[in-house]
Amino acid sequence: MGIVGSGIMGAGVAEVAAKAGFEVVLRSRAQSSADALAAGLEKSLHRQVEKGKLDDAERRATLERLRVVTDLGELEACDLVLESVVEDLATKQHLFTELDRVCADGAILATNTSTLPVVDLAMQTGRPDRVCGIHFFNPAPAMALVEVVRAITTSDETVSAARSFAERCGKVVVDVRDQAGFIVNALLFPYLNNAVKLLEGNVATRDDIDAAMKGGCNFPMGPLELLDLVGLDTSLAILEALYAEFHDPNYAPAPLLRRLVSAERCGRKSGAGFYEYRR
Ligand code: 3HC
Repeated sequence: MGIVGSGIMGAGVAEVAAKAGFEVVLRSRAQSSADALAAGLEKSLHRQVEKGKLDDAERRATLERLRVVTDLGELEACDLVLESVVEDLATKQHLFTELDRVCADGAILATNTSTLPVVDLAMQTGRPDRVCGIHFFNPAPAMALVEVVRAITTSDETVSAARSFAERCGKVVVDVRDQAGFIVNALLFPYLNNAVKLLEGNVATRDDIDAAMKGGCNFPMGPLELLDLVGLDTSLAILEALYAEFHDPNYAPAPLLRRLVSAERCGRKSGAGFYEYRR
C-alpha cells in the first residue's frame, strides 16, 4: 500500500499497516520530513520492544516493510493508496489527479479526510468507483476505530476491500455515508468547539474544563488536551468544513481557536496550544 503525507496521521497509519504485514511505501514531499518520519517510527517501535509489546524480530520485519520515498511515481505498484495530507480540498484534489495518473487502473485511492467531500476527490479521477474514505483516528496505533466512507460513486467492491484492509490492521470498522464529519467528528467537534467557547467566556479554567470531562464523563483526555493532540489547525479546518456543510452555529469555530492557529500555536506538534509542550 501507499501512504501520502508524513504528518501525525500518515506516520501513525504507516506504523499500523507495516505492523499488520503490509508492504508500505510512504511518500513525503521533502527528504528531511521523510528522514524524521523514519526515525520517529524506529523510536516508536523501539519503545514497544522495551515495553515487551513487540519482539525484536517483529520490529526489524516491520521496518523492512516500510519504504519512505519523495517521488510520487514510486506509488505506481500499490494496490491501495491512502492520502493523509493537509485538510485542504484544492490540495487533495490536485493530489488525486496525480495519483490517478501514477497508479494502476485497478488500484483503490483512499482519503483519510475527516470532513471534506470524498466525492469531490473521486471526481478528479477516472475511477470514481474505486475512491473511498478510510478514516483513522489519532493516535492511529492506539485508536481502535476506522470509518470506511462510501461516496455516491464508490462501488461495493471498493468498500469491501477498504473494510478488509482496516480489519487486517486490527481495527473496528464502521460504514458511513459521505457527509461532513462522518460519525465521530460530526459528534465530537461541537463538543470540542464548545469547550473552547467555555474557556473563552471565562466560565472555567482550562484545567478545570479538562478535569471536569475526565472526571465527570470518564473521557481519557479533556477536550482542550484532545484539541492539542488532534492539532488546532486541523481542528479549525474540520470545524470550517462542518460549518460550511451544515451552517450549525455549534460548528462555527470559536474565535480563540482561530487566534491560536494564527499565532502558530497548533498544539502538541508545534510545542504549544492550550498547553505548553517540551520538544
Ligand atoms: N503512538 C503510538 N502508540 C500510542 C501513542 C502514540 N502517539 N499514544 C499512546 N499510544 C499507545 C501506548 O503505547 C499504549 O499502548 P499499549 O497499551 O499497547 O502499551 C496505549 O496507546 C495507551 O497509551 P498510554 O497508556 O501511554 O497512555 P494513555 O492511557 O494516557 O492513553 C491515549 C493515551 C490512547 C492517547 C488516550 O489518552 C486516548 O484514548 N485519548 C483520546 C484520543 C482520541 O479521542 N482520539 C480521537 C481524536 S479525533 C480524531 O482523531 C479524528 C480526526 O479526524 C481529527
